[in-house]
Amino acid sequence: MKRIIFAAAILASLGASAKQEVTVNVQVNKPGSVINKNIYGQFSEHLGTCIYGGLWVGPESSIPNKNGYRLDVLNALKELKVPVMRWPGGCYADEYHWMDGIGPKENRTVMVNNNWGGLVEDNSFGTHEFLNLCEELGCEPYISLNVGSGSVEEAAKWIEYMNAANGPMANLRKQNGREEPWHVKYIGIGNEAWGCGGNMRPEYYSDIFRRYQTYCRDFNGTNLFKIASGASDYDYEWTDVLMENIGSMMNAVSLHYYTVSGWVGAKKPATGFDADDYYWCLGKALGIEPVIQRHLAIMSKHDPENKVPLLVDEWGTWWEPEPGTQLYQQNTMRDAFVASMSLDIFHKYADRIQMCNIAQVANVLQSMILTDKEKMVLTPTYYVFKMYTPHMDATLLPSQVDGCAVKLVPNERFEANPDEPASRPLPLTSATASQKDGKIHVSISNADMKEAQTVTVNLNGYKAKKVNGQILASAKATDHNTFEEPSKVQLKEFKGAKIAKDGTITVEMPALSIVTLEIE
Ligand code: AHR
Repeated sequence: MKRIIFAAAILASLGASAKQEVTVNVQVNKPGSVINKNIYGQFSEHLGTCIYGGLWVGPESSIPNKNGYRLDVLNALKELKVPVMRWPGGCYADEYHWMDGIGPKENRTVMVNNNWGGLVEDNSFGTHEFLNLCEELGCEPYISLNVGSGSVEEAAKWIEYMNAANGPMANLRKQNGREEPWHVKYIGIGNEAWGCGGNMRPEYYSDIFRRYQTYCRDFNGTNLFKIASGASDYDYEWTDVLMENIGSMMNAVSLHYYTVSGWVGAKKPATGFDADDYYWCLGKALGIEPVIQRHLAIMSKHDPENKVPLLVDEWGTWWEPEPGTQLYQQNTMRDAFVASMSLDIFHKYADRIQMCNIAQVANVLQSMILTDKEKMVLTPTYYVFKMYTPHMDATLLPSQVDGCAVKLVPNERFEANPDEPASRPLPLTSATASQKDGKIHVSISNADMKEAQTVTVNLNGYKAKKVNGQILASAKATDHNTFEEPSKVQLKEFKGAKIAKDGTITVEMPALSIVTLEIE
């Protein structure tokens, strides 16, 4: 993470936060690109209790499991239709040696997770356990290679082990109980090469990428999709240099953008926040849009036909971790809005953004799921992902929100973005729409902490016959689910949408609510 310098601006309000007449205009007759379902991707790193305790308890555990995977977590993730999962990191990837995590469990090398708290790991969750989990969930695996401290040989053999039908690595895999290759397609050539992945300069990383990608072979009909380790936030030079040097060799370049709440090392808490923090954080989350635009513009300069997509393969909120944990944080309605508003933005750029991986799937940062021994809770973010599943692989219907309240929130200043304005506007309504299988889905967020809104959805000529919906709402932005009260925030049927005589849909949205409408 880059060092953050805050502008000492004061939260101000543009436009009264009174009840507004808001319109969501949906261009049903001007469909856009297909929203790649991989935008709903997950990220699982060996960090804190994401893997051990979160996804994996081992087959001997008293916690109900299927071949070592927690049953409660498996079932919850199946409901999300997870399309792709990234592993083993993150920073951990550049210290991970895959051969330590294969073969009989009792022979696996015990290691220290030096990146994340020096935890001792027994490597009982390795390549087989991850790839079999992906099969169980029906998702694509996305493997990040160890470029920082590994070798080209190690990386090349890993791909051979996973994908080859025969040869020495395939034989080793078969010896370890897996006959068929897994056909892994998504391969990340390192992670955050500018930081924990080797502290490289972009020119040097470009050469390293050239070398590694040469030996990342296609086996057995699986064409690898090679992902270059991309920029952090406002590091536009990184994207520029990579596109210049290796744009024609990569299948995609990544971007990491976190909604970080303060100075690194002095972040704010996940639950105890006030209105200023709440609105600042949503402003920071929306700040991803100009960042995406600028990276995309640089990419287009080198790749005018826009053949190379951008993958936001790490994003989400980053609060002060719970004491004594590694990046374990609670998840409130505020996180739910960061999720819904970020997904709305990713949809807008569906022609260029082909994958996003929220950080992370369980017990780390903006998780879907929190676990404590045998207990599990689903977070407000989980429910946003659930109510947005109809948008996966649907055709984007461009939409625009008019007439909503806008707050002016202070902007942060990064060393790398001195040209950012000192404040930015935060529209309190966000929306997205898509069409699939004869149905239109419109998701709307009312992020106003106090005011309800009547939202008119104008489908521009489309005659709606039926409307159903789901709603995620809670009285306070700080509301969240705990092991003691696991259902405080949850999805409910929404009855506040009515089709008007003129064919528009009137939606009565409480303060702090997110709805998805299904329109036929
Ligand atoms: O997601 C947590 C960490 O954030 C990842 O390991 C790293 O890639 C990023 O800095």
